[in-house]
Order: sequence, then structure tokens, then C-alpha cells
Amino acid sequence: MNIVTTVIKSRHSVRKFKTGKVDETVIRDAIECASLAPTAKNIQPWLFGVIRNPGMLANIAGLTENGKFIAESSVCFAVFGERDEMYYLEDCCAATENLILALQAYGVASCWVAGDKKSYAEPVRKLLNVPEKYTLVSLIAAGNPAEITISEKKDKRHIFFCEEFKMD
Ligand SMILES: Cc1cc2nc3c(=O)[nH]c(=O)nc-3n(C[C@H](O)[C@H](O)[C@H](O)COP(=O)(O)O)c2cc1C
Repeated sequence: MNIVTTVIKSRHSVRKFKTGKVDETVIRDAIECASLAPTAKNIQPWLFGVIRNPGMLANIAGLTENGKFIAESSVCFAVFGERDEMYYLEDCCAATENLILALQAYGVASCWVAGDKKSYAEPVRKLLNVPEKYTLVSLIAAGNPAEITISEKKDKRHIFFCEEFKMD
């Protein structure tokens, strides 16, 4: 265990937040960490939005299927990818996870809310006035955790193999 693996292992999706702001320095650092993610051919095909206005948070929440809790978050990040770049989805998912882990390192909890492939991707883009060349990849609701639920994970024995896969 080290500081990075401890942060990774301590992360859980949180959907209930306490009221209160997330520091501007934390937000800036999390976005910087997102922007340092690896990308195919180093194209960095992304755009990061930070939404804190309660009215706008409620509007975004209202458009999603399973992200109504965004309305009660302190801040919601929106990750957009350049839709014509072949690897925009992989690149923006890597950035999303970097962002989530950076927040976690500051004790700020979050939950990834689906964006790509969702029918609300375009309405969210238009709501935020984002140019058409981008498409929504993820929304990340964040804040100080009010309730943490720990999800069950698959048994390690069933999810990896060494050298060559063998049936049990
Ligand atoms: C691509 C993706 C989309 C997700 N979309 C939603 C969502 O729309 N609403 C939600 O409540 N959680 C969403 N999640 C969070 C997952 O439900 C959560 O990661 C999973 O249940 C495992 O829990 P854990 O993150 O605490 O390990 C999403 C996660 C990923 C990676």
C-alpha cells in the first residue's frame, strides 16, 4: 500500500452530499489531474466544465436518468470529448477517473454519471452552450460525503489470469 493505492481503494461512488463548497484550489487541481491523463496520439480531445450554480445543477440533474442527486451536489464536472476523434471515449474516461481520484485525494467524494450514449448527452451540451464538435462523456457530481455505500466487488480469483487463461 502507498498513498496512491490507498486513495484508489478508499474511493466509493457517493450520491449524498453535505452542503458546503468544494475549494477552488481543489477544483483546479482535479481538472489539472484530469488533463494529465494519457491520450491516444496525445491529442487531448477534451473540454472540462465546472458547474456550481444551484439552478444549473438542478437543470442538469433534471435531464439525466440516474443522476438526480446532481442537484444536491456542491459541484458537477462535465467532461466533453471531440466526437470526431477516434479515441475520444477512452481518453475522456481516463481523464474522468483521474479527476475522481484527485478529488478523493482531497477527501472530496463523487459519483460518475453516464453521459456518452445517453439521449440526454445533446440536451446537456446545449444547456451548457458547448460547441457542437464536442459530445458529453461524463458528469461527475462531487461534494463532501454525507453517506457512503460500499459496493460489492467481484472476487479477485474470477477477474484476472496470469500468462494464459484457464477454465476452473
Ligand atoms: C460509465 C459509468 C457510468 C455511470 N453512471 C452512473 C449513473 O448514471 N448514475 C449513478 O448513480 N451511478 C453511475 N455510475 C457509478 C456506478 O454505479 C458505480 O461506479 C458502481 O456501482 C460501483 O460502485 P463504486 O463506484 O462505489 O465502486 C457510473 C459509473 C460509470 C463508470
